[in-house]
Amino acid sequence: MKIAPSVLSCDFSRMGEEALAMQSAGADLLHLDIMDGRFVPNLTFGPPVAAKLRPRVAIPFDVHLMVTHPANYVEAFAAAGADLITFHMEAESPVGETIRAIRGLGVIPGLVIKPETPAEALFPFMEEIGMALVMTVEPGFGGQAFMEDMLPKIEKLRDFALRRGLDTDIQVDGGISEKTAPLAASAGASVLVAGAALFGQADYKAAIEGLRRAATGMW
Ligand code: DX5
Ligand code: ZN
Repeated sequence: MKIAPSVLSCDFSRMGEEALAMQSAGADLLHLDIMDGRFVPNLTFGPPVAAKLRPRVAIPFDVHLMVTHPANYVEAFAAAGADLITFHMEAESPVGETIRAIRGLGVIPGLVIKPETPAEALFPFMEEIGMALVMTVEPGFGGQAFMEDMLPKIEKLRDFALRRGLDTDIQVDGGISEKTAPLAASAGASVLVAGAALFGQADYKAAIEGLRRAATGMW
C-alpha cells in the first residue's frame, strides 16, 4: 500500500519543510492538488511552485489536475518535475490524446473520476494509464467525509484490472483516515491519498504508519 500525503492540508508558508517531513516520515508519493477555480470552486498553485519544490524532495510528485483544460498544463507540469499526472475525465480535454501527450513527455498518465462518474467510464483507457483514481469526496476541498458508496467503483476497477492482467494502480482520494483506509484497501486500492488525516497530526511518522497499518491489517 502506497501512501500519498496531499499538500492541500500542509502549512503552505513552509511547503518545502512540510514535504520533506512527510518524505522522512515514510511517504511514498507527494500528492499535489492543482485547482483552477473553474473545474472546482477553489484555487491552489501552479507549475512554478512544483518546480521550486522538486529539487528539495526525492519522492515522486503525483500531480492531480482539477482544471477545466488539463491538456494545456501537462507540458509545464512535466517540466516542473511531475512523475505522474492525473486528470479528470469530466474535464474538457480529449482523454486519449491527453493520455498520449503525458506519456510522450515521459510522465505516467493517470485518469480520475468524480463521484457521479461510473467506474465503467475508465474501462476503455485502463490499458493506457498507470493509475486510476476514484474520488471519494467531491473534489475541491480537504477534510470532507469519505463517501462509502464509492467502494463498489474501486472493486469494479480492481476486478477489471485483474481480469485483464493489468498492474494499474488504483488510487483513492478524499476522506481517507485510519477508519476509512481499511474499506478502501479491501475494495482494491493500492495508493491512498490523505490530507487532513496526516497533516493534521503532530507526529507525521506515526500518522503514516497508522494509516499503513490500518490499510494492510485487513489482509
Ligand atoms: C480534494 C483533493 C484531495 C484532498 C484530500 O479535492 O483532491 O487530494 O487534499 O484531502 P482529505 O484527505 O483531507 O480528504
Ligand atoms: Zn487530490
